[in-house]
Amino acid sequence: MPGANAVTRGPYRLLQENFRRPAGAPGALVGHLMTVQHRGLTRWSTEHLDVRRSHHVLDLGCGSGMAVELLARRAGSGFVAGLDYSPTMVRQAVRRNADAVGRGQVAIRRGDVGQLPYEDNTFDRVSAIETFYFWPDPARGLAEAYRVLKPGGRLAVTLEMSREASAVPTLTQLLFGRRFTERSERDGLRILSGAELVAMLDVAGFKDTRFVAEPRRSLGWVCALGSK
Ligand SMILES: C[S@@+](CC[C@H](N)C(=O)[O-])C[C@H]1O[C@@H](n2cnc3c(N)ncnc32)[C@H](O)[C@@H]1O
Repeated sequence: MPGANAVTRGPYRLLQENFRRPAGAPGALVGHLMTVQHRGLTRWSTEHLDVRRSHHVLDLGCGSGMAVELLARRAGSGFVAGLDYSPTMVRQAVRRNADAVGRGQVAIRRGDVGQLPYEDNTFDRVSAIETFYFWPDPARGLAEAYRVLKPGGRLAVTLEMSREASAVPTLTQLLFGRRFTERSERDGLRILSGAELVAMLDVAGFKDTRFVAEPRRSLGWVCALGSK
């Protein structure tokens, strides 16, 4: 049934492309969707990142800027930078954080994780939520995160779809999980286990690496942590 295939491929591809690099009106819509969909995951990730009031924090692939907003509340006397290569997301993140941008507590920039526009040893914390799957050169992105972290600083790479999904699947995982995960992988997304993520952090030079997982949340929440 080629017709049915074409129908199902259309919206899926549009969604996938706009998760990877949100653009134009569909990208703006996906940005708002992610603000709702990723809020719980972002709170969970931020707790593991252990952000303090005075910290300088960087959020890689910041999307609509929801994580930046939450991080700026925690780092109340510090500074939060958001970076994304999508101009649509940069605009959305600036709008969402307009007051903090005006006060100079938040700055959103357009840029690529493979070449960060920040000095060495700048940030106490670096966060990357739901973006690592898409990085064309993950080793380079991790090396850049390491470079801009201060000694003793911490990185959290967090994903809501991983190999950590429950062995006894939830209803969501049963209905969508395997199909969605396999399809995403065919489309070039990097679907990893916690141990695989940790091994990549080790190679990049991070210390005290570990991961935490919530196998029954979404398609297997995972957060890999490491220090410089
Ligand atoms: C699925 S969205 C997640 C956005 C946000 N972190 C969240 O959790 O809602 C992935 C984001 O990563 C960004 N991104 C992907 N690859 C990137 C790269 N190489 N450099 C900068 N941003 C990137 C995309 O533009 C997109 O906004």
